[in-house]
Amino acid sequence: MEKMENEGRNLKRLVLVPGPFQGHLTPMLQLATILKSKDFSITIAHTLFNSPDSSAHPDFTFLCIPDGLSEQEVGNPDLVSIMRRVNDNCKFSFKECLIQGTNHTKLGDKICCIIYDAIVYFSEAVARDLKIPSIAFHTSSAATTAVRPILIQLMAQGHIPAPDSMLEVPVPLHQPLRFKDLPIFNVGSLDYFLEGVALTYNLRSSSAIILNTVHCLEESLLAQLRQKYQVPIFPIGPLHKFSPTSAVSLLQEDTGCIPWLDKQTHNSVIYVSLGSVAHMNQDQLSEMAWGLANSKEPFLWVIRPGTIPGSEWTESMDEEFEECVKDRGCIVKWAPQKKVLAHDAVGGFWSHCGWNSTLESICEGVPMICQPCFGDQKVNARYLTHEWMVGLDLEGEIERGAVERAVRTLMKEKEGEEMRQRVLDLKHKVDVSIGDGGSSCHYLSELAELLTSF
Ligand code: UDX
Repeated sequence: MEKMENEGRNLKRLVLVPGPFQGHLTPMLQLATILKSKDFSITIAHTLFNSPDSSAHPDFTFLCIPDGLSEQEVGNPDLVSIMRRVNDNCKFSFKECLIQGTNHTKLGDKICCIIYDAIVYFSEAVARDLKIPSIAFHTSSAATTAVRPILIQLMAQGHIPAPDSMLEVPVPLHQPLRFKDLPIFNVGSLDYFLEGVALTYNLRSSSAIILNTVHCLEESLLAQLRQKYQVPIFPIGPLHKFSPTSAVSLLQEDTGCIPWLDKQTHNSVIYVSLGSVAHMNQDQLSEMAWGLANSKEPFLWVIRPGTIPGSEWTESMDEEFEECVKDRGCIVKWAPQKKVLAHDAVGGFWSHCGWNSTLESICEGVPMICQPCFGDQKVNARYLTHEWMVGLDLEGEIERGAVERAVRTLMKEKEGEEMRQRVLDLKHKVDVSIGDGGSSCHYLSELAELLTSF
């Protein structure tokens, strides 16, 4: 379809390489939709592992990169090891795919740029080999992008892993972050992780950096990044606002929760989701469940299949809990999150603070309960609770009493109402940024100009 549409127009072709996880595929597919609307041809070059649904994007060409991952590796919860293998395995196969692809294409359009998620840094090496310009896309916040490279230095100084006595200490030059907020993965090998960080944050030959953030949210951090990298930096987020209809879910959305929300009153429901990769054990799930039940507030809760490794979906929710919440709880496997957050009935979001969820919540003016699990989520949670002051901290082990108090505070008390006002103010600022003449629009035009110049 794309081929027919493009015949004779000789559009410039961009190859976009997403990271193979929901939180990375989502912003890359959104970026692809936006760039398509600016008259570029789009090829999505993706790993076999967690492939996006090509049928949902008839306007793009898809190129599957053989990633060499075994079934066992794909099921491994150690994301750092998976990414190391993907980067090792795909360098050769991606290059082959591109060479074969360009030989066989009848479009005659050369690839003008490779835009790659910084975690799939093999793409940059291939771009360099083939002398194709490249741009790195960091899908996390500017705060994470600024602080992660210093982990290597902190490790060399013996500050990582931080001893208990250091956990509350502010990170020099990176306040409001404390050592406990540093974006480290607590699964797998720390050495492998830091090797990956070194490669992810080394720009090498790439000409620019794209960030899914907004100038008004992270102005000083963006200035820091400009100084460090000395290349154009394009904060063009929140991308979902520029491509609202882009189909990006790897899991089937259960839209049945929308009619349930329709029956609830204004701002009464707390929406609960810990994203696409966080895991927990049975006790933690049970503490969450009873905290919600005891709060007496209506809730919509996403329990992803596989949330408790090795266990089927909600087989383990006990009957007493189900009886207790039957009139005011709705549990689904995967929700249409953006629609949920935009729903009038939703008044709070208990989240793991993945960057996409953080942006989506701010964009709908929904205050949060912050329960970061790992990596950049800790940075986002710290900014939500201590910089933008639109989220309540739910640190440490999950315990039903703490959950109940947090839910009540957010949904019913003055502190929660003040957060709701502040997040609405932020939402308005973001709305201005994405409107005509706003910062994100401006940077999107600059990005399109740069891509056209290649
Ligand atoms: C991962 C990392 O965990 C996160 O820290 C990083 O910032 C991005 O990559 P994930 O855990 O999936 O992402 O969280 P998040 O970034 O919030 O992305 C989840 C996406 O899935 C969001 O766009 C959200 O709208 C969507 N989602 C989530 C649904 O569509 N339905 C759901 O039920 C839950």
